[in-house]
Amino acid sequence: MIHTDRLTKRFGTVTAVDGVSLDIPEGEVFGFLGPNGAGKTTTMRMLASLVSMTSGTGEVAGCELGKPADELKLRQRIGVLPENVGLYESLSAYENVAYFGRLHRMDEPTLRQNIERLLRMMDLWEKKDLPTATFSKGMKQKVALARTLVHDPILLFLDEPTANLDPEAAKTVRDVVLDLKRQGRTVFLNTHHLEEAQRICDRVGILRTKLLTVGSVESLRTGASGKHTAVRVDRPSEQLAATVRARLAPRTVELSGDRLVVGVTDPEQENPEIAAAVMAAGGRILEVSQLSQSLEDIYLKLVHEGGAPA
Ligand SMILES: Nc1ncnc2c1ncn2[C@@H]1O[C@H](COP(=O)(O)OP(=O)(O)O)[C@@H](O)[C@H]1O
Ligand SMILES: [Mg+2]
Repeated sequence: MIHTDRLTKRFGTVTAVDGVSLDIPEGEVFGFLGPNGAGKTTTMRMLASLVSMTSGTGEVAGCELGKPADELKLRQRIGVLPENVGLYESLSAYENVAYFGRLHRMDEPTLRQNIERLLRMMDLWEKKDLPTATFSKGMKQKVALARTLVHDPILLFLDEPTANLDPEAAKTVRDVVLDLKRQGRTVFLNTHHLEEAQRICDRVGILRTKLLTVGSVESLRTGASGKHTAVRVDRPSEQLAATVRARLAPRTVELSGDRLVVGVTDPEQENPEIAAAVMAAGGRILEVSQLSQSLEDIYLKLVHEGGAPA
């Protein structure tokens, strides 16, 4: 659905996005993470053909970026929810969505059907005739989402869609994203909300001008350092660790606080053997758990050091 090769954007002497190569299959919810100024919005604007790229190539929803003949086709296939949503405040919720549908030259019966379906989904149908000036921030964001979806796009670009929303409105937005996924649509989501990415994205990419890493949250969490089983014991000692290490070779066994940390490949297969080895060495087991880095650990390491997590 999205394929880019060394996508780059410079503003004067500032390189905002540097050589981003991405492959996003149809039906995926892809989370684009990165600190302020990382180039998330600029990347999204290039992918949506709202700003030209300086170099590189890209194909989005079957359209070639930078090819004027593909421009209109791209507009019809994608929906963009920008960072700062501008609604016509004096118009009603219904009229705001209808206006966008007409810009897309939708026929009136389909337009009416879609508006009703979307405003009902957003729980706004009862308020459809009120001017959006009277709406809360969360309600406005839902109108903006309905507007982004009115022409049935197959690919959605959402730029920090839950920023500054209260928890309930943020949940509605996340539910809409999951609903879009169930319908087989592809979602490209800019966020710096790590927990959100973890909850709704199939894969995430971490950007800081350059793309630092891409993968499923699960693979990022275990990938670089591998999996570890931690065995918390009653009386930890280096001697116990050494005995366990000898029994479990060639696995690594390290003493960390009151825990023996064992490098594993398949915890479910290996944990019984590990527990048996600790008991045979005279250890009294209090707890066995899997260690993993949180997405936040990985994110902070990458963004601050620019290197791979240890
Ligand atoms: N229109 C523009 N003109 C000049 N510089 C810009 C423009 N848009 C973005 N930038 C710069 O590009 C960099 C990336 O910005 P942006 O894509 O908005 O990052 P993010 O969305 O990750 O916060 C920043 O340094 C920003 O100042
Ligand atoms: Mg941004």
